[in-house]
Amino acid sequence: MNAGKNRDKNLEAFKILVVDDAADSREVIQAHLAEEGYLVRTCASVEQALQILSHAAFDVIITDLRMPKTSGLELVRHVRQNLDDVEIMMITGYPSIEGAVEAVKTGAEHYLAKPFTDTELLSAVRAIIEKLLRKRLAAGAQSAASDYGIIGESRAMQNVFKLIGKAGDSNANVHISGESGTGKELVARAVHYAGARRSAPFVSVNCTAIPESLIESELFGHVKGAFTGAGDTRTGFFQIADGGTLFLDEIGDASLAMQGKLLRAIQEKTIYKVGSSRPTHVNTRLICATNKNLLQLIGKGLFREDLYYRINVIDIPVPPLRERGQDLLLLVSHFHAKFAKELGRPVPFFSDDALRQMMAYHWPGNVRELENTVQKMVLVAEGQKIELADLPATMKFCATPAKRLDRSLAEFESEYVRDVLASVSGNKTKAAAILKIDRKTLRDKLK
Ligand SMILES: Nc1ncnc2c1ncn2[C@@H]1O[C@H](COP(=O)(O)OP(=O)(O)OP(=O)(O)O)[C@@H](O)[C@H]1O
Ligand SMILES: [Mg+2]
Repeated sequence: MNAGKNRDKNLEAFKILVVDDAADSREVIQAHLAEEGYLVRTCASVEQALQILSHAAFDVIITDLRMPKTSGLELVRHVRQNLDDVEIMMITGYPSIEGAVEAVKTGAEHYLAKPFTDTELLSAVRAIIEKLLRKRLAAGAQSAASDYGIIGESRAMQNVFKLIGKAGDSNANVHISGESGTGKELVARAVHYAGARRSAPFVSVNCTAIPESLIESELFGHVKGAFTGAGDTRTGFFQIADGGTLFLDEIGDASLAMQGKLLRAIQEKTIYKVGSSRPTHVNTRLICATNKNLLQLIGKGLFREDLYYRINVIDIPVPPLRERGQDLLLLVSHFHAKFAKELGRPVPFFSDDALRQMMAYHWPGNVRELENTVQKMVLVAEGQKIELADLPATMKFCATPAKRLDRSLAEFESEYVRDVLASVSGNKTKAAAILKIDRKTLRDKLK
């Protein structure tokens, strides 16, 4: 998937339903909101809206008050009684105090009188979205400790939680796949603590960290004098994790020799200490994780197919951050609270602009990169708020929230040049290098 596409997906994370019986008014509103990057759906009556709402979720509903069959107030009532976490804005062509009062009493917290300008519409919607963001951030901070310390409410993460529950209940071996920094180790621990094995040890081993010559002894242990340097009898990881879980991280990097040894131990549920012919029965559950594509490795002869099927009984794919929509906001607020607590002092929060930009970024390093970014921002923050300009340079040019198509080339160039300069804290040499022009040309352009 390319970054551009993901970017758009994030920007469109806010969904708006527009209900208005007048087609021209519907179209105008839709056009403006869509241009801002919102995902907009329209319909012409309360009946249609109820039907859409029965199977689709929206962040904001904008409804006309007066419509031929059923009044917009009915829709407001329905939403307030049946749906959480939705903001409603009432619009009407007959502005009256009573209409506004009644709308607000019924539960529409926002009110816009027709005729309104594009700017009025957009700033009203922006205010609503900002209110939603703040509400969700507050909720995220509260539920931060839920679900084994794994933050996330997106559909993609709900699926992960479901699989964790399923895996926790069983003794089957689990394979966790996902890009670097997506939280695979966190998921592995969650599977262990979600099940009956939680009171036995969780042993975490990185397959790349064991030298080839020590694999057998590390995994299965050795008896005293088994080889030079084996001064004492030693228990291996399989046995330490007996009754619990052995987490084999980076399984895709295990050598073929190690894979063979693992396969035998899994099949026979029995291990032999190096230097001993006495079998030891072990009841160890395996959880393996990798950011590599094991099927591809199998194709290249680098991973054993028989081992793959043994470890992959339950597969938990962990989605990248860019597919988790507004989880990003929950994570930002979680990490912000965590680092503020560690510092022991209140620290400024991100401005709405900065948050918006963070949502538009594609996060190649996933949750780990987000965590590091938040930490860095919190540490160096000085102002009232962490602003757009405080974000790392890589993050500044990734979004085009609203493509403005009303500027001349010269205006556009001048704005771009200034943005680049700001991203490198005014360093003209660096800015010129990014723009691939010399410093003198840059100076001229700035004039
Ligand atoms: N959903 C989440 N909620 C809170 N913290 C998270 C979440 N996902 C990841 N983290 C944090 O992000 C960091 C990276 O997570 P983790 O080490 O589990 O990722 P990983 O997939 O194992 O990465 P790698 O592929 O590099 O081994 C950790 O500090 C972890 O606590
Ligand atoms: Mg890991």
